[in-house]
Amino acid sequence: MPIFSPLSLYIHLPWCVRKCPYCDFNSHEVKGDLPESFYVQALLDTLDHYLPLIQNRPLISIFFGGGTPSLFSGKSIDQILNGAAQRLSFALNIEITLEANPGTIDQARFSAFRQAGVNRLSLGIQSLQDEKLKTLGRIHDQAQAMHAISIAKEIGFDQMNLDLMYGLPDQSLDDAMSDLTQALSFSPSHLSWYQLTIEPNTLFYRHTPVLPPDDTIWEIQLAGQQLLNEKKFQQYEVSAYAKSNNTCLHNMNYWMFGDYLGIGAGRA
Ligand SMILES: C[S@@+](CC[C@H](N)C(=O)[O-])C[C@H]1O[C@@H](n2cnc3c(N)ncnc32)[C@H](O)[C@@H]1O
Ligand code: SF4
Repeated sequence: MPIFSPLSLYIHLPWCVRKCPYCDFNSHEVKGDLPESFYVQALLDTLDHYLPLIQNRPLISIFFGGGTPSLFSGKSIDQILNGAAQRLSFALNIEITLEANPGTIDQARFSAFRQAGVNRLSLGIQSLQDEKLKTLGRIHDQAQAMHAISIAKEIGFDQMNLDLMYGLPDQSLDDAMSDLTQALSFSPSHLSWYQLTIEPNTLFYRHTPVLPPDDTIWEIQLAGQQLLNEKKFQQYEVSAYAKSNNTCLHNMNYWMFGDYLGIGAGRA
């Protein structure tokens, strides 16, 4: 029986409703209609181009990253996954993650993603305080973030990551711990807890807000790690925390120097 080394597929969907002032991802504010069908076809054409390199190796994970993949319709995600399945074999327990912005979802859209085969959702929550969300230029507020988490759970996304950031402008230790505690109250299977970094080429770089002093950020980090530890979340890479078997397979494949194919506008 042949032994295959793991292969992952990253699919980049680069559009967002609005560019966040801290973000240096290859992501762009959508102007007019999303060119969904054109882009889906371009992704599948790219896959065709790379097929000879893949040599029938089964995919262990697919990651729809952004940008804001949840701007795409369930139909488009279904077409991409069907197209991928027609060209490649999927491992039995393939992990299929989609990044979603709480400001772009509703029940029908989440259900359609699930039906298309997405089995892991990554929600860009960032904070659960309205004032912080405003400073971060997010298109959603706390209520929308909590609603998104609730409907994702209702629909049956057991594998759910929440993205949170800390070290935010004017953030105190209590603010940061309140975000973490509230996020954990939804029992996500995975938490990505990033320290806000000021990246060149962003609005925050040109007009840098006042960030908490290093000592406060250090206190936040220590207290947060302790809380996550108490709640049985293990830190398995710089910013990723998961309960026992819920590490992100796709993430781990990168960290273990496994092979991956990236398609789309920014293929990292
Ligand atoms: C591609 S985005 C996630 C999906 C979606 N675009 C959203 O923002 O809701 C990946 C994550 O990276 C984190 N991130 C982006 N820029 C960052 C920065 N400058 N410092 C720290 N974390 C950052 C955010 O938590 C964000 O959710
Ligand atoms: S953080 Fe997410 S929503 Fe904001 S600009 Fe970056 S990719 Fe888009």
